[in-house]
Amino acid sequence: MSLLPIIKMGNPILYQKAEAITKPQSPQWSKLARDMIDTMKNANGIGLAAPQIGKSVRLIIYQIEEKEPRILLNPHWEKKSDDIFEAIEGCLSMPSLRGIVPRYNHIQCQALTLQNEKVTFNAADLEARVIQHECDHLDGILFFQHITDSALFGFEDEIETLIKDKIEQETPNPIDHHGKRTNEIS
Ligand code: NI
Repeated sequence: MSLLPIIKMGNPILYQKAEAITKPQSPQWSKLARDMIDTMKNANGIGLAAPQIGKSVRLIIYQIEEKEPRILLNPHWEKKSDDIFEAIEGCLSMPSLRGIVPRYNHIQCQALTLQNEKVTFNAADLEARVIQHECDHLDGILFFQHITDSALFGFEDEIETLIKDKIEQETPNPIDHHGKRTNEIS
């Protein structure tokens, strides 16, 4: 197992547009992806983008619940509907901070695999959220930049109750299907 240091908000790499990967089958990317998966699991995250470990390239990984980790190169997405849902997000590059972020609920994602195969798939709910969060990292965007109400952004132990109340008021089935909220950092 190889753990990589995760860089934090303030490091300029997190604000850069990452480079496209031109040779997906190069062994360096499979090694990077493996190390990123180890690093993500060790940090109790559900997703990680290469810029977060200081590599400004377009590679993301994520793992939803017990499914196999997914590795996507040069990913991009488009919305499949206008449905937006708000939920708590965190980020391994912003430890202890949480906020309510609006994201599209249904997206279609396209990417390359490590075998240089093109994949196209639909994603919803938490998976859609993680993909949008990680793809943001490839464009130098952190989740707090989507938050328009600063009262909904802060340290987890301070705003947990406020955020919970807000979500429960506004959405009928707010966070149940998201499992352990405190682990949803990516
Ligand atoms: Ni993140």
